[in-house]
Amino acid sequence: MRKAEIEAIEIDLLLEVLARRHGYDFTGYARASLKRRIAALPDALGCASVAEIIPKLLYQPELLPQALSTLAVSVTEMFRDPEVFLALRQHVLPLLASYPRINVWHAGCATGEEAYSLAILFAEEGLLPRVQIYATDISDAALAQAEEGVYADRWLDDYARNYQKAGGTGSFADYTARGYGFFKINDALKSKILFVHHNLVSDAAFCEAHLVMCRNVLIYFNRELQERVLTLLSGSLVRGGYLCLGPREELPLAAARRFKTVDAAAHLYRLGEAPP
Ligand SMILES: C[S@@+](CC[C@H](N)C(=O)[O-])C[C@H]1O[C@@H](n2cnc3c(N)ncnc32)[C@H](O)[C@@H]1O
Repeated sequence: MRKAEIEAIEIDLLLEVLARRHGYDFTGYARASLKRRIAALPDALGCASVAEIIPKLLYQPELLPQALSTLAVSVTEMFRDPEVFLALRQHVLPLLASYPRINVWHAGCATGEEAYSLAILFAEEGLLPRVQIYATDISDAALAQAEEGVYADRWLDDYARNYQKAGGTGSFADYTARGYGFFKINDALKSKILFVHHNLVSDAAFCEAHLVMCRNVLIYFNRELQERVLTLLSGSLVRGGYLCLGPREELPLAAARRFKTVDAAAHLYRLGEAPP
């Protein structure tokens, strides 16, 4: 048997342990990128090979969080793709202003930068008191960092630039306190975000949301899983609610029929008023 075939068996066994022992089903993830992240697991868990990880994950459940955060790619930034935030500011927030309470579900929030960016938008549009942002992810390590809201200073200039491009009306620094090479997000913004563990593959819809944002997550899934997750995300929207997928992901044609495109480049859609 060739080495590649043996490696494929190891990966299948690992995925089976994750699914049957821990309830995390990665079989619907796009295989090529999943393989790259599995290759990083031995180092992260202090093992010599994937084969060595399989019994460890079976008998040492305490290793699961580290495994999940290695399998998850938590790269993100404040006001990532600023034009998306500009589109939200211009086309979505003015309409959300008519609701007495606004629920936002930010799925796949990683270390929280996007959720805080959203909170800044709501603050600048005078809607912060009315909004509740639920930011969810599969990685507990990323969620713990998100909850802290503390980030390295070296990104500040980039974030300030993104913020301006996103139509920022003040100064990005106004939302942070600086010290010791880090900046911390203000408590007023933090208090509007609940960071919660949620698995898009297996968990139910999170809340009834006026805006659902899910960016750079679906790209890691195969087509079938993408469609299932999109059904979950759109099923959690109120009538007339907004779905924002960002530049890299879009609704398949069949699903798009139920939505009106609000901003084509940002893949920002509004759920139709008619019942689905
Ligand atoms: C590349 S980050 C995207 C972060 C942010 N949305 C952005 O665009 O900057 C992908 C995130 O999706 C999360 N993720 C992967 N699979 C998930 C799942 N099944 N359920 C929830 N989150 C998941 C990862 O943990 C990771 O934090």
